[in-house]
Amino acid sequence: MMTDKQLFELAIKARENAYAPYSNFKVGAALLAKNGEVYLGCNIENKSYPVTLCAERSAFSNAIVAGVKEFEKIAIVGGKDKLVLCSPCGMCRQFMQEFCYNDFKIILGEDVFQLKTFTLEQLLPESFEL
Ligand code: THU
Repeated sequence: MMTDKQLFELAIKARENAYAPYSNFKVGAALLAKNGEVYLGCNIENKSYPVTLCAERSAFSNAIVAGVKEFEKIAIVGGKDKLVLCSPCGMCRQFMQEFCYNDFKIILGEDVFQLKTFTLEQLLPESFEL
């Protein structure tokens, strides 16, 4: 059983590998799948700025390449020198919505002792359905 705190600590570790020489804003993500596995992600910037990949989509990509498509929760951390509350961007919310149910949990925080948890439904209400 993976606690929110443990997942948050893994996101902090993933953030160490962030490639963010242009913004200096490093982001890490740890995604818990329903099979119990954790998939890590970090932001990967590019000199052509829009090419940049966010940490959240990087974590989902890792899982999907491994054949995993059912998810429970994700922890996201970000900041320059110190962590700030790093809420997922709109593109990442939509990306998550492709694979996650409304009750998917998104765990944010400036530190491990003050975690804020949201559901995907809270962060992306009235989402698009085909
Ligand atoms: N970033 C993420 O990795 N995830 C988000 O949800 C928001 C933004 C990254 C992209 C860029 O490398 C840096 O944070 C600053 O925008």
